[in-house]
Amino acid sequence: MDAELLLAAVLDVPRARLLTLADVPDGAAARFDALLDQRADRVPLQHLTGRAPFRYLELAVGPGVFVPRPETEQLAGWAIGALAGVASPSVVDLGSGSGALALSIAHEVPGVSVVAVERDPAAIEWTRHNAAARAAAGDPAVVVLAGDMTDPELLRDLDGAVDLVVSNPPYVPDGARVPREVADHDPPLALWGGPDGLDVVRGLLATAARLLRPGGRLGIEHADAQGSALPALVRAHGAFADVEDHPDLAGRPRYTTARRRS
Ligand SMILES: C[S@@+](CC[C@H](N)C(=O)[O-])C[C@H]1O[C@@H](n2cnc3c(N)ncnc32)[C@H](O)[C@@H]1O
Repeated sequence: MDAELLLAAVLDVPRARLLTLADVPDGAAARFDALLDQRADRVPLQHLTGRAPFRYLELAVGPGVFVPRPETEQLAGWAIGALAGVASPSVVDLGSGSGALALSIAHEVPGVSVVAVERDPAAIEWTRHNAAARAAAGDPAVVVLAGDMTDPELLRDLDGAVDLVVSNPPYVPDGARVPREVADHDPPLALWGGPDGLDVVRGLLATAARLLRPGGRLGIEHADAQGSALPALVRAHGAFADVEDHPDLAGRPRYTTARRRS
């Protein structure tokens, strides 16, 4: 599959078109060989093609930014569904990276205003690049803000006014073993979340509680081993009701949702 996608990228054709190809020109074959060597050396496929599909979008990715994962599409889908019927909703995406969540919500929710917050100076260049590309394609402009999701002063002007906070935060416990594609190519700030993986989440809960209006919704992705710990943390915070955990398509616990108490 990866080899086919790399050859399709080299030839700039859809993967299905490979079936009808009679020949691969020499120059393209040499580029394909070089990409295969890099992929065999565990460079992520998406860094080699420079693109990552996410729901209806194709995002630019490369060194310095977390490659969006298919399982996060479900958190995006939940957020988009949760905003149905909310007039001119206001959304904040904490830890936006490529902008996968923020830009999908902007693409799929009519009349939405989205702020994408990102702390990593390298990653935010990708957030800005993808946001500009989507705005040029006609989607609502997403505000990209350099900031720390655990900062008590973040977005003070939106206190109590946000309809939905969504986040795929760094949640890998320090020292956990991860594949080489992840360890060597995803930015450390996107991965590591302290001894139990939940350090950043603790800070983000305070921010979400402050930003959300009463009844506003919260959605947070987590590791499959955190399907009990994360809902427990959200319940223990005290500001949230209707705390639920949701599985991904493989049936593994993947994200927690809640509602801001009145
Ligand atoms: C797992 S990645 C998710 C990126 C994107 N939302 C997605 O779903 O593909 C986590 C992102 O949060 C950012 N981040 C980590 N700690 C942060 C903090 N304290 N404040 C803001 N962003 C942070 C990382 O730089 C990274 O881009």
